[in-house]
Amino acid sequence: MIKFPKNFYWGSATSAHQVEGGNVNDWSEWEKKNAERLARESKNKWQPWQQERFPEMFNPKNYISGRACDHYHLYEQDFDIAKKLGHNAHRFSIEWSRIEPEQGKFNEAEIEHYRKVILALKKRGIEPFVTLWHWTNPLWIRDIGGWENKKTIEYFLRYTRKIIENYSDLVKFWTPLNEPGTYIGLSYIKGTQPPGIKNIFRANKVFGNIIIAYRTTYKLIHSFRKDAQVGVSHYTTYRIPLGNFFWNGLLIKFLDYITSGRFIKRIKNNIDFLGIQYYRPEFVKLKLGGQWAWILDKPDIAPKDSLANDLSWGISPEGMYKVLKRITKYKLPIYITECGLADAADVNRGEFIKKHLFWLSRAMNGGVNVRGFFYWSLLDNFEFVEVRGFWPRFGLVEVNYKTLERKIRPSALQYAKICKTNELIL
Ligand code: BGC
Repeated sequence: MIKFPKNFYWGSATSAHQVEGGNVNDWSEWEKKNAERLARESKNKWQPWQQERFPEMFNPKNYISGRACDHYHLYEQDFDIAKKLGHNAHRFSIEWSRIEPEQGKFNEAEIEHYRKVILALKKRGIEPFVTLWHWTNPLWIRDIGGWENKKTIEYFLRYTRKIIENYSDLVKFWTPLNEPGTYIGLSYIKGTQPPGIKNIFRANKVFGNIIIAYRTTYKLIHSFRKDAQVGVSHYTTYRIPLGNFFWNGLLIKFLDYITSGRFIKRIKNNIDFLGIQYYRPEFVKLKLGGQWAWILDKPDIAPKDSLANDLSWGISPEGMYKVLKRITKYKLPIYITECGLADAADVNRGEFIKKHLFWLSRAMNGGVNVRGFFYWSLLDNFEFVEVRGFWPRFGLVEVNYKTLERKIRPSALQYAKICKTNELIL
């Protein structure tokens, strides 16, 4: 039996565009334009067993977020479920395009909406962790060139000010930006999600602007609320070399720096906590060739304790421990702001959570200061990364997209036991 500290935060996470439904932003427009192509390309992208189990991937509708889970209207019901499951914290994002659909024109009704969302959480004894930007931009931001344009920093600050003015009395924990590194990599280098650009120089420009936006947002939030906790939610992975060649080790060091280290280094004076998003290990070997050919992710050689994942990602709970040990050098409190499994049949999710929590507790026993864990995600939702759409199911709660009915999965109850007792029994 493993005991967690008394005030540990237990919860789950969502993001606006993935659950709300009815959003009009740069992603919703890109989805409509690319749905047919994405459906067609599934044939080459996924393995035969995946194609057979998830035929939805061939339907263009799978790639259009549309009404998603309609969480925009059903949030009270969803938070009732979170409460029932023993969660005492919840991470969600505010949709910029709702708050400011046109440049400089703020929608008071939407500001009121998110106030109600925050109050609905607090009423249930659930601490809100608020993300200000989870990858989506209003159309007018897209039209000025998105994050490549320096003006976007200014506009983002203006939007943040509006949010903070309204909710700083209610919200203590803020993550201004969600996984900026992943966004830059996939949106501006690999080009597999909006705006679909493949240009390292443009990516670097976005990186620079995002860093400035983060730092200034940090200061702005603190100017409104002294005791605010502002952090970044950051993609992490445990990189395993394929083959014992010394250059694979060097490559890993380089990748850890490029995707993590350099970002944290640039913001280290403006950070109260580190939000770690950990899903899987990555298998790395140096192989010169195509743009991404030097990073290999081979799920079939995942570690022995690996469990099934519908996206065929490798699984390494111990990898979370390794990441935490590496990241503890920054001497900051840590929250696991995302960790989850796509498992439609819900056969492995319970074990996945338990094993990760086991390794988490080992890191904590070894002195790593972890203060909370947010499973990704409360609900099945529109899977965002590279616009995979609805077929991968990460939810503690199953969503029937036709009827919008919610069904609590058995693994959610296993996790609930841990949340309620603060104890993990293996
Ligand atoms: C993102 C989520 C996404 C999850 C699973 C994270 O990187 O923040 O939006 O759904 O990964 O792929």
